[in-house]
Amino acid sequence: MDLRKDPATLSLPGLELSGAVTVAIADGDALKKQIAQYVAGVATACAKERFVVALSGGSMPKLLASLLDLDIDWAKWDVFFADERCVSRDSPDSNAKACEDHLFSKIKGAKPTVHHLDASLSPAEAAEKYADELNACGRRFDLCLLGMGPDGHTASLFPEHDLFRKPDGAVARAILDSPKPPAERVTFTLATLQNSLRVAFVATGASKTPVLQEILTRKGGKLDYAHPVPAYPAAWVRSADGGAAWFLDSAAGAGL
Ligand code: 6PG
Repeated sequence: MDLRKDPATLSLPGLELSGAVTVAIADGDALKKQIAQYVAGVATACAKERFVVALSGGSMPKLLASLLDLDIDWAKWDVFFADERCVSRDSPDSNAKACEDHLFSKIKGAKPTVHHLDASLSPAEAAEKYADELNACGRRFDLCLLGMGPDGHTASLFPEHDLFRKPDGAVARAILDSPKPPAERVTFTLATLQNSLRVAFVATGASKTPVLQEILTRKGGKLDYAHPVPAYPAAWVRSADGGAAWFLDSAAGAGL
């Protein structure tokens, strides 16, 4: 059985999956600018005292660079990582390090509050502590910025893994057998990501095209989520209202 074609085998919560999807396709600096304008717009519209955001690794930290050109009140930001590898903060595998190198270190003036995974703990303990930190910040993300792998994984929720297939409502979980190295990571769970007020994906490169063509479909001239929803984590992570914004380069978005 191809599990990706059989979402009925997923025991996922009964989400209202009808929210609006917006898809922007652009390349190079134009893509970076669109992402930055979207993120800055969501941050500015956040009426709360703190803006709680989840960032990701992969190519995203570099793609966020245009945020540095905009007028952002960084001091208001509480930054978490949608997933993080259980490695020291200076490891090349650390998502925090990638964000530090490409973004935070280049901010002039007040910096965001960055919530790091405590890699001195066991992965399970680190996940619990990370969940406590998010709970202390209001339990939900105002914005969750995610990448997507060619297999449709997002954060460290992988298509064939029980963390995705059998979600349990925990806020964050350790994963000790990630199909993609490094094996030990901590990820926010599907329930937590789906509770975000806004969700945005950034996907670049031709390796993402086949999965994107299954996740998104054209309805009446407009791109929307395909139904039934294919069993890719990136298809199931949407904001609390069921919507998401997708930022694609033209290679990833080919044929959509
Ligand atoms: C990991 C990856 C992964 C990454 C996506 C998108 O799980 O190890 O870091 O989650 O963010 O595969 O990667 P790109 O943005 O580099 O395409």
